Amino acid sequence: MNIPLRNHDIAELRRLDVAHHLAAQQDYGLIRDLGGSRIIVRADGCTIHDGDGNALLDAMAGLWCVQVGYGRRELAQAAFDQMLELPFYNTFFKTVAPPTVTLAAKLSGLLGGHFSHVFFNSSGSEAIDTLIRLARYYWQAKGEPQRSIIIARTNAYHGSTIAGASLGGMKAMHDQGGPWLPGIEHVMQPYGFDVGFGEDEDAFAERAAAAIEERILAVGPENVAAFIGEPVQGAGGVIIPPRGYWTRVEAICRKYGILLCCDEVICGFGRLGSWFGFQHYGIQPDLVTIAKGLSSGYIPISAVGVADFIVETLRGTGSDFVHGYTYSGHPTAAAVALANLAIIEDEGLVERTRDVTGPHLAKRLAELAAHPLVGETRSLGLIGAVEIVAEKGTNRRFGHGGNAYIVRDICIANGLMVRAVRDSIVMSPPLIVTEAEIDRIVDTIAAALTEAEPVLRAL
Ligand SMILES: Cc1ncc(COP(=O)(O)O)c(C=O)c1O
Repeated sequence: MNIPLRNHDIAELRRLDVAHHLAAQQDYGLIRDLGGSRIIVRADGCTIHDGDGNALLDAMAGLWCVQVGYGRRELAQAAFDQMLELPFYNTFFKTVAPPTVTLAAKLSGLLGGHFSHVFFNSSGSEAIDTLIRLARYYWQAKGEPQRSIIIARTNAYHGSTIAGASLGGMKAMHDQGGPWLPGIEHVMQPYGFDVGFGEDEDAFAERAAAAIEERILAVGPENVAAFIGEPVQGAGGVIIPPRGYWTRVEAICRKYGILLCCDEVICGFGRLGSWFGFQHYGIQPDLVTIAKGLSSGYIPISAVGVADFIVETLRGTGSDFVHGYTYSGHPTAAAVALANLAIIEDEGLVERTRDVTGPHLAKRLAELAAHPLVGETRSLGLIGAVEIVAEKGTNRRFGHGGNAYIVRDICIANGLMVRAVRDSIVMSPPLIVTEAEIDRIVDTIAAALTEAEPVLRAL
C-alpha cells in the first residue's frame, strides 16, 4: 500500500486515552495503571502495527471481522465514490439509495432459501434488537401475542445493548446492572469439552437439544416465540456443537412451530467455510443476524435476514413496523459491503477457507494436542480454539476463572494477536491468511504454552 504514514505522538495519545477515553469491555483502572491502551496505527494484509513499532500477525481478524484483510483500496474507493455521490440518506420516508437495494438483493441471493428480504442496521447488537422485535411482532400480528418468550443458551454472546446482553447468556454481563429484558430463557450450551466431557457425541447432541424441548414444554409451547443460537459460539470460546445438534434443534422448533433464529454475526461470510453457518449445518432458519464480515469491519453495517412467511405477515398488518434506525440501509456502508462481497467472491475466499486454509489450520492445531497443557484443539473453517488444562486427559482447568490470558500475553509479546476466553486461546484470522501465516499462528501458540507452563503450574 502506498499511503503516506502519519507521525503520531504515541505518548500523548496514550495520555489522552487514559484522560478521556472509555474503551469497550475494559477494566478502566487497569487501563489507567497500564498508562493507556496499545495504539494501533496502521494495518495491511493480516498484520497490524502499533505505535511502538511492533508488527502483530492478527489472528483475530480485528474482532472476528476483517475477512478480506487490511488495506483494501477497493473498499476505500467504494466509500469515497459513494460519499461524493450520496453519503447518506434515510429509509424512513419511502426512500432508499441504490447501493442499499442492490446489497439487499445480493444478500438475499447469498442467504438463499426463503430469505428474499433483509432489514439493515449498523451493528450486530442492533441486528439482535431488530430480530427480537420482529419475532415478537410477527406473533402478535399472527394473533398469538402471548408468544413472546425467546430461548437462548448460557454462554451465548448476542451483543451488548440491553436486549443483546439479555438474550446472551454471559454471566459476567448479567452480574452487572439489570433488570434485564423479561421473557428470555437460557438453556445449556452444547459445549462438549465442558458440560459434555467424556460423553458420547451423539448422546450429548441429543441431551443438549432435549434441554431446549424441555424448556419449551416447561414454559408452554404456546408462549414461545423463537429459539436463537450462534451456529458456532464465538465469544463464548469457539464452541463447536456436537454432530447432529443443529438438525435436532431445527426439528424441535418445527415441532412446536417456533421461529428458528441463527446469530451469524461471527459465523457469516465464510468464517466456517460456507457463506453462512446454517448452510454448513444444513438447516433453514427463519431469522438470521449478520454483521462483521459483511463489510469486513471497514464500516459499521449489519442486517437481519427475514423469511418470506414473516414478510408476508408484516405486509398484511396494514400498519408500519415501527422500528428502524437513522443508519438503516446507510448508502456508504452498503457500497462498502458490496465491494467487500465482490472481493470475497472474486478471490474465492469461502471455498479457500473450506478446502485449503481451514483444513490446514485444523491439521496444524491437531499437532498441538500432544502438548502437556492442551486438553483439546478444535476448529471449523477459520475459527479455532486451544483449550488449556492443568491435567492432561481431563478437563480440569487451572482455576481462577481462566488463565489463558497468560498464554495470550506471551503470544502478543511474540508478535501474534490472539484472544483469551477463560481457559481457551481463540483465533479467527482474516480469510486471506496464508498457510505460512497459519503455521506462524500455531507455532507461536505452541511456544507460548511451553513458556507459560511453569508460570501456570506455580499459580
Ligand atoms: C454472535 C454475535 N452476535 C452479536 C454480536 C454483537 O455485535 P456488535 O458488537 O457489532 O454489536 C457479536 C459481537 O461479537 C457476536 O459475536
